[in-house]
Amino acid sequence: MGPGDLEKVLSYLPSEIKDPALLVGMSTGDDAGVYRITDDLALVQTVDFFTPVVDDPYWFGAVAAANALSDIYAMGARPVTALNLVSFPTSKIPLSVLGEILQGGHDKITEAGVRLLGGHSIDDPEPKYGMAVTGLVHPDRIWTNARARTGDVLVLTKGIGAGLLTTAAKRNLISERELTDAVAVMATLNRGAARVASGFTVNACTDVTGFGLLGHAWEMARASGITMTIDSEKVPLLPGARELLTAGAFPGGTRANLSYLSPHVVFDPDISEEMRLVLADAMTSGGLLLSIPAGEGRGLIKALLDNGVRAEIVGEVGPGKPAITVS
Ligand code: CO
Ligand code: CO
Ligand code: CO
Repeated sequence: MGPGDLEKVLSYLPSEIKDPALLVGMSTGDDAGVYRITDDLALVQTVDFFTPVVDDPYWFGAVAAANALSDIYAMGARPVTALNLVSFPTSKIPLSVLGEILQGGHDKITEAGVRLLGGHSIDDPEPKYGMAVTGLVHPDRIWTNARARTGDVLVLTKGIGAGLLTTAAKRNLISERELTDAVAVMATLNRGAARVASGFTVNACTDVTGFGLLGHAWEMARASGITMTIDSEKVPLLPGARELLTAGAFPGGTRANLSYLSPHVVFDPDISEEMRLVLADAMTSGGLLLSIPAGEGRGLIKALLDNGVRAEIVGEVGPGKPAITVS
């Protein structure tokens, strides 16, 4: 569901109930909800599931789990437990395939130190997999997308273009093998990036998924009441994505994102349609987008690199009515 559809559906819900324990609710479009248990402890909850992004069941499971955990890391929290969500056509596809999906998911959460508590499965003509994940955070150390400040720089910790790559593979424009490097990045936990960033002043954070880099950047700009300038030449692409830019394989969600964003984003006229699309590409398991004081930008990039996370400064934050300029 695109950002426009989500807004319409959420408008059917009554406005959020005021509760001092509800630290992060639905109003800021954040990655997860946060509920205070005690003065020192808050619960962070999120859920994510989707149809297969890659053919290989093991890697589908691993990417789905990395993606579900990411919303906890994007809140500055530590994931602790997970529940599986499974839809599967048991009469059409051998159960061993589901076994591999679950194995991929389980290996990924085990790597993260997260325990599986259970799950729920239904028979469904189309396979879907994901997780509900619970994390913990100190109430004073929550990262939201609502506190980016003028004078910050924007740091992105993974390349973009996963929607383009997986759609190209579904249309046989590239082989599954050519997708391997990109899938490895998608399956990489955002844990390392979050852990390194926690040593810096994180004013705001989100992760890049279904609304694309620009869609999630826009949510941050709107929630924070700031403007952003994004330098398209600095934005890293996933391995193999650049070669596919002109192949016309963008998923429908990417086009919907770009059209939804058009009132809020001003592109330099020199920026090609393909570049605009990839900047809005509907992704799975993208990197963290962090807003930190400009003076700490270089230090964070170096610390991330030292810990094996390739990251780039892709833009900056300024004052004014929320909007994004792409140069
Ligand atoms: Co998210
Ligand atoms: Co999510
Ligand atoms: Co059940």
